[in-house]
Amino acid sequence: MAGLLKALRVLGPTHLWKLRRAQALGTPIERGFFATRVIQCLFNLGFFDELTREGRVDLPDFALRFDLDLRILRLLCDYLYSLHFLDRRGENTYLPGRHTRILCEVLRGTFDIIYAYEDLFHHLEAMARKEKAYGKQVKRREEFVGKGSGQSAKLLPFPMAADLIRRKGFQKILDLGCGDGEFLIGLAKADENVRGYGVDISAEVVELASRRILEAGLADRIQIMVGDIFDLEPIRTQVGQPDAATSFYVLHEFLWNGPEVVIDLLRKLRKTFPGMPLITCEITQVQPEQFRRHPSIILEHHLFHDLSQQGSIPRQEWKRIFVESGYSLEEEVRMDFSEMSIFHLC
Ligand SMILES: C[S@@+](CC[C@H](N)C(=O)[O-])C[C@H]1O[C@@H](n2cnc3c(N)ncnc32)[C@H](O)[C@@H]1O
Repeated sequence: MAGLLKALRVLGPTHLWKLRRAQALGTPIERGFFATRVIQCLFNLGFFDELTREGRVDLPDFALRFDLDLRILRLLCDYLYSLHFLDRRGENTYLPGRHTRILCEVLRGTFDIIYAYEDLFHHLEAMARKEKAYGKQVKRREEFVGKGSGQSAKLLPFPMAADLIRRKGFQKILDLGCGDGEFLIGLAKADENVRGYGVDISAEVVELASRRILEAGLADRIQIMVGDIFDLEPIRTQVGQPDAATSFYVLHEFLWNGPEVVIDLLRKLRKTFPGMPLITCEITQVQPEQFRRHPSIILEHHLFHDLSQQGSIPRQEWKRIFVESGYSLEEEVRMDFSEMSIFHLC
């Protein structure tokens, strides 16, 4: 208190008030940056996997087993202990904290997606100065795009789409841009008659999906292949005619050069697989005015998508694209609370 009174006398109330306001505004922003990096680092080192599995992590033992720097690990863990993401017993044993469960069960995918696009944010200034460009010197981490997307989508759109597929009785499913295979894995686990085929352009992601399918004991019912969905004939040769195709968060990746690319792709899909319905899930565009009223997590999603040459359009524009491609909209499962829609197209 004496310190505060002295500062008040030296600096004056206006200056002190300004400092307080700046702290209130700045701390959550700074902390968001530091905490995100620290949490992602511990995810990547397997710390949270061990914590979830064992209910505790003995830090010196963990550091020894994985040949890690104990001093750095301790700094990171104590930082998260201060923020209630971890608890601690004695000097060395870290336990789940108040926020650990929600972090590991719900937010992990979000952290993986941020990590996937991290390079963009390291090179923002160089990109703004036109010294570096996305797709050339600046890249996303494909494995983490697939992993993060699947682990996030399994919480909401995947079960919603699976419900639609069950209602329609579709069993042979082709997932276009399948990422880590999570959608097909969930579908096949819930119904033993489901046969899944996944296609993804990234060999890294296909390797990850195949490994996960093997671990889930579903290799006899789900097949994953490297392929480009713009080149559909080889996919048709391998898969035959599915009951339905699905695509989750894939079509917007091709919007950068305008909607025609997506329209051409969908026309090709209809021609190659006549009569096959398409169930597609996309995030819909939100205007800055709407974000100012409700700055949801989609705000950051729009930012890194637009910076990485992807696109976002309003749901009415999606519908126009579908109609122009020759599809008719059978049903829309609208999740307006999180700005996304699942479109069932025939
Ligand atoms: C945002 S991720 C979505 C992954 C998955 N559908 C999900 O929801 O978890 C987009 C995926 O589309 C894949 N992709 C992009 N272009 C593709 C193409 N031309 N052919 C096949 N896959 C593609 C990417 O490799 C990536 O795994």
